[in-house]
Order: sequence, then structure tokens, then C-alpha cells
Amino acid sequence: MPEERVQDHYARSGSGGAIAIRIIAALRAHAGGDVAITPETLAPLDHFHGRGVLATEKLVALLEPLAGETILDIGSGIGGPARWIAAKYDCSVTGVDLTAPFCDAARELNAASGMADRVRILEGSALALPLPDASFDRAYSHNVVMNIADKAGVYREAFRVLKPGGRLVLSHVNAGPNGPPEFPVPWAAVPENSFLATDEETRRDLSSAGFEILTFHDTTPTTGTAQARHKLETEGPPPLGMHVLAGEHFLRLQINSMRALEDGRTRTVEIVARKPA
Ligand SMILES: C[S@@+](CC[C@H](N)C(=O)[O-])C[C@H]1O[C@@H](n2cnc3c(N)ncnc32)[C@H](O)[C@@H]1O
Repeated sequence: MPEERVQDHYARSGSGGAIAIRIIAALRAHAGGDVAITPETLAPLDHFHGRGVLATEKLVALLEPLAGETILDIGSGIGGPARWIAAKYDCSVTGVDLTAPFCDAARELNAASGMADRVRILEGSALALPLPDASFDRAYSHNVVMNIADKAGVYREAFRVLKPGGRLVLSHVNAGPNGPPEFPVPWAAVPENSFLATDEETRRDLSSAGFEILTFHDTTPTTGTAQARHKLETEGPPPLGMHVLAGEHFLRLQINSMRALEDGRTRTVEIVARKPA
């Protein structure tokens, strides 16, 4: 198989304009032509990670954003979490993402939902954030570092752009004890684009970047994954889901991802870290 870049994996979803049109059309088909386009109504379609907006809510409970703060989303996808946090917490969110069509889709959805003044999207790499030092109160990254080999580099960049005392929240997939997952999975079609760290490596990389680790939780569901997978396999996806962004083939990726969790090949983790004041 020819080498695939991370951006190519995600860019299969089409141009940014096409993604935004597809998402808004799916929402209107489901909720009626006069449905308001808001971060809330878009939420089943634009949070690109397992358990959707519920997982964003969990992350935000750890992030504790305050009104007026500057927040950074590292690997912001099509911007669902950034819009949702900016709208709910009245703060300004900057998203940085490597995949150009996702950045374009995020900007279009910002405009369509009236959030363009509070959510800024920059195309760029988590390994070289196009942002000044000490410019954010808080930062988060949700299901992104699985695509990046140099995780210490990501954490160093997050540390650089956070203000002293700033908080970093990570929610992602780490390696399980039972070998690699079966590919394709939602973050990678091929093993060459998947970099799952152990907890030990994650702690080491965060500490070497200068962070204090405040909490580190294994959030792998202990029940319900097999039932959820069975439902997906027998009934297919709900009308509003990630397949609208990622295409019908995404079902197989989701099923593989659930199986990997069930089999102990992957684990989900949530981490809160702090740049010393
Ligand atoms: C599974 S999506 C998650 C998107 C978003 N965090 C969310 O939860 O809705 C992973 C995202 O990480 C981005 N990504 C992967 N490697 C990156 C890198 N080196 N720098 C910035 N973004 C990256 C991809 O372009 C993609 O948008």
C-alpha cells in the first residue's frame, strides 16, 4: 500500500465546503428546514471522537473554562468542540489543525452558526503551533495525539503557548496490553499513521515538557461497549452521526475501534496537567 499521510486519511471526507454542506443538509433533513444552525444543533455531527458531545462535556468538566478566557484546541477537526465550548462558556477558542479541508469546513460552520467572532481556526501542526508564547489560559486536545509519533514535541508546544499556571487537558486513546488494534480505525487506515503510547510514556513525555500531572485516569468503559457495537452492527449508524462527515465506510472503523477497546488493544485516558505558575 502506498504511504498515506495523516491529512490524506482525514481529507477523504472531501473539500471543506462539501463537508459543511453535507452536515447542514443532514441536520435540516432530520430536524426541518428552518432548524437553527447552532453549536448545540450541530453537536451530533461535528464532535469527531467516540461518544461525541458527551465526551466533550467530560473533557470540559476537567478543563473548567471561564468566561473571557483564551482557549486552545490542538487538532480541532471541523471545530465542533471549539464552537460548543466558546458558546457555552463565553470564551474565545483558537483551533489548530493539520487537515486543510477540516479547517475550511470549521470556518464555514463557524460562519453558519454565528460563532466566527469567538472561534478562530488556523491550519498548522501541533508540533509547530503558529501561535505566540504564553498566550492561552487553557488548552485541550481530543483524540489527536494517536496520529503523532513525537508526543513529547506536542506537549512542549502546548507548554510553550500556555500562560504560567495554564491547564492542559488530554482525552485520547492509549495502547492496551494486548497488541495493536485491527486497522482501519477512525484515526488511521494503516498502522503507519497510528502511534499509541503507553501510560508510562505519556507521563514521561508530559513531565519532560515541563508539565505537572494533576490527574491521569483510565476511562476505558468496563461495560456496554459490546452492546453498543452489536447495535451499530445490526442497526447501522443513527441518522445524525460521524458518518455524515467521514462517509459510510466509517461504520467499519467505529466497529474496529470498539472491538479494540473490548479486546484490551486500546484504552481511553483523560489527563489534566498544569504548567507551573
Ligand atoms: C479524530 S480527529 C479529532 C478532531 C477534534 N479534536 C474533535 O474531537 O472533534 C483528529 C484530528 O487531528 C488532526 N491532526 C492529526 N495530526 C495533527 C497534527 N500533527 N497537528 C494538528 N492536527 C493534527 C487531524 O487533522 C484531525 O482533524
